[in-house]
Amino acid sequence: MDIVQVKGLTKRFGGIVALDGADFSARLGEVHALLGENGAGKSTFIQILSGALNHDGGDILVDGQDYRPVNPDEALGRGIAAVFQELSLVPDLSVEQNIWFRREPRTWLRTVDVSQMRQQTLELFERYHFPSIATTREVRNLTLAERQIVEVAKGLAKNPRILILDEATSALPASEATWLLSLARQLADEGRLVIFISHRMGEVRAIADRVSVFRNGSTVATHDAAAVSDDQIVTEMIGRQLARLYPERMDTATDRVALQVRDFSSPPMLNGVNFDLREGEVLGVGGLQGHGQREMFQSLFGADKALGSVTLWGKPVCFDTPRQALSGSEGIALVPEDRRGQGLLLTKSVRENLSLPVIRRFSHLGLLNQRKEAELVRETMKSLSIKADTPEQIAGTLSGGNQQKVIFGKMLMTQARVLLLYDPTRGVDVGTKGEIFQLMRQLASEGYAILFYSSDLPELVNVADRVMVLRSGRVARMLEGDDITEEEILRAAVFDSEAA
Ligand SMILES: Nc1ncnc2c1ncn2[C@@H]1O[C@H](COP(=O)(O)OP(=O)(O)OP(=O)(O)O)[C@@H](O)[C@H]1O
Ligand SMILES: [Mg+2]
Repeated sequence: MDIVQVKGLTKRFGGIVALDGADFSARLGEVHALLGENGAGKSTFIQILSGALNHDGGDILVDGQDYRPVNPDEALGRGIAAVFQELSLVPDLSVEQNIWFRREPRTWLRTVDVSQMRQQTLELFERYHFPSIATTREVRNLTLAERQIVEVAKGLAKNPRILILDEATSALPASEATWLLSLARQLADEGRLVIFISHRMGEVRAIADRVSVFRNGSTVATHDAAAVSDDQIVTEMIGRQLARLYPERMDTATDRVALQVRDFSSPPMLNGVNFDLREGEVLGVGGLQGHGQREMFQSLFGADKALGSVTLWGKPVCFDTPRQALSGSEGIALVPEDRRGQGLLLTKSVRENLSLPVIRRFSHLGLLNQRKEAELVRETMKSLSIKADTPEQIAGTLSGGNQQKVIFGKMLMTQARVLLLYDPTRGVDVGTKGEIFQLMRQLASEGYAILFYSSDLPELVNVADRVMVLRSGRVARMLEGDDITEEEILRAAVFDSEAA
């Protein structure tokens, strides 16, 4: 018997229909992938399943019995735990305190048994081959990827029969993502059910026994993974055939240098980076995580400090703040890694998020030209197919991928022509990914210059004109032409090479 059986599930948020009669069924011992476009209702579904949200209509059976949890604890009582798309750790607490939060082992005096807690953490890490993270570190000092890993540990520590992973790999670099996939397999082999949500088709292929496809809040189909093609899945997801994911290569780079970077340093992470980004070029940035990519993007944007010389369109610049970086068409704009912290005002509307940073563009003598604002906001929402009820929808209530698109749109609204894109397609569905790549190519052909980091290697290989690989805070290699392959990128990331 299937352990979870869902029939006709509905959920509305005011006038927005998030789930519209979804069906779902899954059994112990399988990895069951849940696929669908941004806003299809996947996260809403798993929030209901894990007791974080109530549903309006429909039935859920777990072990053949009615199931309507009113909170996550009750869901856990029936063996269900989830790792949510948006992370929930407490920054001031350590790794181990977060993992056992509200469930700490106690001494007979009812105080937290610290040594027991450490022991349990180490056992958990060992049993599931966790990447090494010191258990006493404060979460505030961890990278996004490390926080994601701790979040997985927290879910597993509850020893659930059903573990739900909502885009848990999207913030992970390749090696950690591979680890998480084998973890999912291990859990299924132990007889548990893993419900796995990801926009990376390769991962779904590598791990899923079955796949269910959601579209517009209902279920399109459930398949045995082995019996269905990628094309069919994508077609079911987006309701049409996807012409191609990666745009045709066009060499639009000119000789004009848009961004020149020399001796760019901020030890220990950045140790003298040198490169030229040309007008019309998409310059990829690769390398293992933690080799300075993040720091480079943040510092170029003025959000962190670094030494060295930076020239924009031939003029030396020195940004102390992002506001300075953003100013005017000679500026520089960033799509940051951390969308909830740095990218979005979660309690503001989509319109405000898009237009506030550039409000001066719509104002004249202190008066706001609302028509012009509305027009640009509409255009931006359309070009990125941002799925919001209206431009007034609060950004925090958009689906994860749509939040990511708003950040991209916000950057487009600035007039900066040097764009720093840090993993811009994280959590974005395949259809929209294709549109974003197309847009990047188009911007390049219009003379924009784009620095592009992606945690997904195939994206770098297929979209970038050149790829610079960072290692230990330096450019280890600059790959061009036929040298741009996954193997070469990895090799340069790991080994010494002639150009180092
Ligand atoms: N609190 C809320 N208020 C209003 N609308 C909401 C709220 N939460 C979700 N929605 C809407 O419900 C729909 C489904 O969102 P959901 O987060 O489930 O999508 P998803 O399939 O997880 O997408 P993604 O792949 O982008 O994560 C979206 O249109 C979203 O805007
Ligand atoms: Mg989601």
